[in-house]
Amino acid sequence: MSKEFLGYHSEWNLGSPGGWDYQRMAQEIGKFAWAAITKRSGVNIELDFDDPILNPVPNFAQTLLRFHRKHSSQEKPFIALVAEEETLEKVGENIRFVEYLNTLPDVKAALLNPSQLQLKDREIVINNEKVTTIFLDFNNNVIVKLKKQLDLNALLSAIDKGIVINPRGMEPIGAKGVFEVITSDRREKLSETTVARTPWTRQVYPRKTTGPDGQPIPDLVQWIKDNWDRIILKPVHGYSGKGIIIGHKEPNRERALKYVLDTGDYIVQPLIPLELWAEQFPWIDKEKKKVFLKSWQTDFRCFVTDAGLIGFVTRFGGIPTNVGSGGGVQSTAILRSDIPLQEAIRVVNQTILDLGFDYIWGLQRELDKKSVEIGNVYLLGPIMGTLRPRLITQGHIEQLKNYAKNLWYDALILEELWRKGCLDTFVQITQEEKSIAQRAPWQGKPALIAADGLFGFT
Ligand SMILES: Nc1ncnc2c1ncn2[C@@H]1O[C@H](COP(=O)(O)OP(=O)(O)OP(=O)(O)O)[C@@H](O)[C@H]1O
Ligand SMILES: [Mg+2]
Repeated sequence: MSKEFLGYHSEWNLGSPGGWDYQRMAQEIGKFAWAAITKRSGVNIELDFDDPILNPVPNFAQTLLRFHRKHSSQEKPFIALVAEEETLEKVGENIRFVEYLNTLPDVKAALLNPSQLQLKDREIVINNEKVTTIFLDFNNNVIVKLKKQLDLNALLSAIDKGIVINPRGMEPIGAKGVFEVITSDRREKLSETTVARTPWTRQVYPRKTTGPDGQPIPDLVQWIKDNWDRIILKPVHGYSGKGIIIGHKEPNRERALKYVLDTGDYIVQPLIPLELWAEQFPWIDKEKKKVFLKSWQTDFRCFVTDAGLIGFVTRFGGIPTNVGSGGGVQSTAILRSDIPLQEAIRVVNQTILDLGFDYIWGLQRELDKKSVEIGNVYLLGPIMGTLRPRLITQGHIEQLKNYAKNLWYDALILEELWRKGCLDTFVQITQEEKSIAQRAPWQGKPALIAADGLFGFT
C-alpha cells in the first residue's frame, strides 16, 4: 500500500460539473503519445491508460441512467442535455456526450436550449415526446437570469418533478464559504479524510476568528495583511479561476484588500505550498530547439457520485490552473510496473528528453493535429497537453475511492444543515436562487460532484 498522498481540495462543485469529455480526449491523446514514445525508445515501463476509472464519460452516463431509473423505472430513458442557446453549437463536450448517449442501447438523448422544453398534460416533452431526465449545464443564477427573458415554465416544472440532475438543491453546498463550516465548529461531525483535505477557509470581513492552527485571530483583515505572501483570496461563487487573488503575486495588498472588502463574498485560504502539487513534465522550447523539464502546477478533479469515485479531470498550468486561465488537460495513467512512482516519473521524463528535439517536435505536431481532429480544442487552438501522463498508483486510487465515498456522505450532511438554515451565513445567494434550490432537495439521489484536488502523489 502506498503511503497516504498529500494535498487538499481547493473547492467542490455540486451545481453542474464538467470536464468529463475533455478527460476522455486527453486519455486518447496521451495513450497515442505513449505508444509512440515506447516504440521509439524501447522503454520498459507499463502504464495503464484504459482502466475504467480513467474515462469518466461512460461512468457519468451510468449516473444519469441510475438517476433516471430512480424516478421513471418503467420508461425508456429520453435524456435532454439542456444548455444555454449560444453554447449549443460551440461546446463540444455536450455535443459529443449526447452522441455517446445515443449509442447506448434503448437510450435517446438530445441537446437543447431551455425554451425548447414544453409542458403537455403535466409532462415535459420535446416534439410530443416525453423527456424522462434532464442534465442541466448551468447554475441556478443562470436560471434566474434566463427567467427574465424566456418562458422557463417547463424547466421549472421539471425541477419540481425531480427529473433534473443534479438536483438544484445541491448547488449551495458548492459555495466556497462552506469550507469554513468544515474547518471550524462542525468538523467533528464530518469524516477525517474530508476535514484533513479541506484547507482552512474563512469568509473575509472585519471579524475575529481562529486561524489555521486554531490560534485566535483578533482582526482577520490585519492577519491577511500580515500573512500576505502565504494566502490566496477567492470569490465564493467564482469559477474558471476568475477573480482569484494570489497574495505573493499582488504587490499592492492595500488596494487588493479594499477591492475584496468592497466586493464582499470572498474567502481566504492558505496558499497550498506550490511544490506539493507541482510536477515536472518534458516541454518543448521551439526557439532554442530543446526539450527540457518544466515545472507545472496541477489540478486533480475527482468526480464523485452515489456509486463512489468515477473518474478525474487532470489539469496543469500556472496558478490558477484553469484552461480558461491558460492551463491545459493532461492524461492520467496508472503505473503497473513494480517500481516506485518517483522512479517511474524520472525514467519516463528522461526517456522523453533523450528522444531529442526533432523527434519530439514531430510528435507534438502529430498530437496537435489529432487534438484538432477529435475536437480537443479551446477557442482557436488545440488544448495544451503534456508529453507524458500524470502518474498514479493503484494504491492512490484506493485512497481516492475512500476519500470520495466519505466526501459524498459529508456533502449530504452539509445539505441537511443548509436546508435547516444553519449555513446561511456561509452561502450567500439571492432569494430567487435560494427558492430554486429549495424546489429540489438532493438527499443522496444519484448526482455528480467534482472535488478539485491540489494533490501530490509520491
Ligand atoms: N488554497 C489554494 N492554494 C493554492 N492555489 C490555489 C488554492 N485554491 C485555488 N488555487 C489555485 O486556483 C485554481 C482554481 O481554484 P478553484 O478550483 O478553487 O477555483 P475556480 O475558479 O472555481 O476553478 P474551476 O475552474 O475549477 O471552477 C486551482 O487550480 C489552483 O491553481
Ligand atoms: Mg476548481
